[in-house]
Order: sequence, then structure tokens, then C-alpha cells
Amino acid sequence: MDLNKVFEERRSVNFFNPQKQIEEETLKNIINLAVLAPSAFNLQPWELIAVQSEEAKNKLFPLTGNQPKIKEAPVTLIVVGDLEGYKPENTAWNDLEIMLNNKQALENYQKNAYSLYGTTKERSIKFAESNAGLLAMSIMYAAKYYGVDSHAMSGIDFDGINKAFSLGESKTVVMLIALGYFDESRKLYPRRSRKSYYDIVTKV
Ligand SMILES: Cc1cc2nc3c(=O)[nH]c(=O)nc-3n(C[C@H](O)[C@H](O)[C@H](O)COP(=O)(O)O)c2cc1C
Repeated sequence: MDLNKVFEERRSVNFFNPQKQIEEETLKNIINLAVLAPSAFNLQPWELIAVQSEEAKNKLFPLTGNQPKIKEAPVTLIVVGDLEGYKPENTAWNDLEIMLNNKQALENYQKNAYSLYGTTKERSIKFAESNAGLLAMSIMYAAKYYGVDSHAMSGIDFDGINKAFSLGESKTVVMLIALGYFDESRKLYPRRSRKSYYDIVTKV
């Protein structure tokens, strides 16, 4: 599928076929393609919880305002941002350490990352959520490429999900993405219009 088609055919699918599972291999392919998303310092401050079991779906469902797709979609990903992903403990620094082969140069990068993303709560939230948001979009396009439909959700109880899935204070729930296959017996609402180049671009 070419890139235009991926963009044109991705829709937020409200109705998933509950009988049609996603193969484990397909889910792996989607995620391993999506992780090519860019991130600040390549720190990849993100994690995914794949909600698949009946028990986990039942836990998530009321925290989404009872959105039926949680129960119908075979998988819902909780996209989690790491508020402390700028810290030296993040293993994403490891390959840079090898590339630089210079302890001082690595520490300079890490100090820079701390001053950009670690000095206020607002900065760390921006860091975690902007980067994890790019992963989320990549997942939805990668899914379409592999023939899998998706639906992002942020009409959810972020703190409730954080607690229910024991994510802890250093993590922020960014959004949910339901993944599965459109229920062909239902009708998808028409695609809403988009603002265009002239609406959103200001040349300065
Ligand atoms: C971050 C984000 C959060 C969203 N939250 C919800 C939601 O909680 N419930 C819902 O029904 N749709 C949700 N949507 C879907 C949007 O309504 C949908 O993307 C938009 O109407 C455009 O439709 P399209 O994706 O089919 O082009 C969300 C989309 C995004 C990107």
C-alpha cells in the first residue's frame, strides 16, 4: 500500500468485528515499524500496554466512559509516556554511549536533556506526551499498512487508568488506541472535513 493510500484510508473505526483477532505476528510487525518514529535525542520515552484479556478489558472499559470498542476490538493499546525518559537510566542512551565513545560528551548530552525536559513538570509532560504522540500516530499508520484498523481515544480517565494498571507517578497515560478489523456490517460515518494549507499556514 503506498503512503497516500495509507493516509487516505486510515479512519477512526468505531465498530470492530469482535470475532476477528489480530495475529501476534501482525501486532509485532505494526509496533516494530511504528518505533521508527522520531523522538527527542532518540530517547523513545514511551511504553505500550496491550489490553487483550477479558479481565484487562473489563478493568479498562469503565475508565473510558464505557466506549464499546474497548470490548469489541481485539487489542487496545495504552500509550504511556515516560516523564523521566530524559534520565541517564534510560537504556536508549546506550547506543549513543557506544557511538560517542566519550564519557564527557555523553554526560553533556544528558545534562542538556535534563535542562530541556527535566527542570519543570510542564517540560517533562511536554517531552513525554509529544514524543509518545508521534509513536501513537505511527502506530495508526503502520496498522493501516498491515490492513488493521484503529481508533484513538482520549475521552478517558487518565489518572484512573494509570492507577488501575499500576503505572506509577513517573508515567503519564497519553491516549488509547483500539486495534482490530472494521465490522463490515456497520456503516462508518463520513469523513469530516479538514482545514487546509491556507487555513493553517502562516508565512512569516
Ligand atoms: C488523540 C485523539 C483522541 C480521540 N478520542 C476519541 C474518543 O475518546 N472517542 C471517540 O469516539 N473518538 C476519539 N477520537 C477520534 C476522532 O474523533 C477522529 O480521529 C476524528 O473525528 C477524525 O476522524 P478520522 O480519524 O476517521 O479521520 C480521538 C482521536 C484522537 C487523535
